[in-house]
Amino acid sequence: MCSRRALLYMPGDDWKKITKALTLDVDCICMDMEDGVALNQKSEARITIAKALLELDFGTSEKLLRINAIGSGLEQDDLQAILPYCPDGIVIPKIESLDQIQWGSEIIKSVELANDWPLNSIRMLVGIETAKGVLNLKEIVTHPRLDGILFGGEDFATSIGATRTDSSIELLYARQAIIMACAAYGLQAIDTLTIDFKDIERVRREAEFGAMLGFSGKQVIHPNQVAPVQAAFTPSDKSIAYAKSVVEVFESRQQEGRGAFELDGKMIDMPHLKKALRVLDRAKAAEEK
Ligand code: COA
Ligand code: MG
Repeated sequence: MCSRRALLYMPGDDWKKITKALTLDVDCICMDMEDGVALNQKSEARITIAKALLELDFGTSEKLLRINAIGSGLEQDDLQAILPYCPDGIVIPKIESLDQIQWGSEIIKSVELANDWPLNSIRMLVGIETAKGVLNLKEIVTHPRLDGILFGGEDFATSIGATRTDSSIELLYARQAIIMACAAYGLQAIDTLTIDFKDIERVRREAEFGAMLGFSGKQVIHPNQVAPVQAAFTPSDKSIAYAKSVVEVFESRQQEGRGAFELDGKMIDMPHLKKALRVLDRAKAAEEK
């Protein structure tokens, strides 16, 4: 699975922002057809995204697009307009059940078959942004086309009648529910936006908080948010060096027949080895990006 530390949205009808995104060395570029696009611009967004997929070189950035929510009446035409141009993946917002993922996956599969593309090669990420979505996570995370969940904190707060606060305490339960469901199925958990895009310290703080909770990345809406977010989800040199020493010492202690041992004054055993291997995996994925 590719690294998705920062997933940058831009309105799909905005050619200038799409081309700007190519200069940012961002892990994922997500061209939006949903809430970032005015109702009377939806078909313009389809045309612009198709042109971008056809003509632009996205380099190592993943090419994603977000369709309108299932039930909006726009979702089928969105998929059919864009899938022939072979995006890397589709984002479906406001998912509330496994059936909805199945519906999208069947349409993608028919296009994969018609074009002789490998089955499941077009990946899927889904937004969990409502109370029902969080409630049904247990079934939602089982779909084989799914790579990850995107948490939509603003919509979720509205859906449960919460007031947004600076501390975001009102989002903690949903954040942890998503992280846990993703961990159980080996999926990426991608945190909600920081809408206050002029406050770089804030996005840095919120990205570090998300990484600490267990998210693997964060959604962003402005070029200035890309670097701090990608940094927050990249293991530091210090944590890489420590992870390497855990792996090294663990292996030699195992050979001496010891499962638990001391390193720098702390007890180390199997969970710490697993954590260290994960840090090294993430560092490698970030480097390969
Ligand atoms: N992707 C790529 N480029 C972007 C961008 C984005 N999301 N947001 C801004 N830019 C570009 C601007 O075009 C501008 O480029 P330039 O310097 O070459 O002229 C530069 O970055 C600086 O932009 P700025 O003037 O600070 O912002 P803005 O007023 O143009 O746009 C927003 C502010 C919030 C409207 C804009 O960031 C945006 O549209 N974000 C995404 C919104 C979205 O997609 N929402 C739905 C998903 S949640
Ligand atoms: Mg939303």
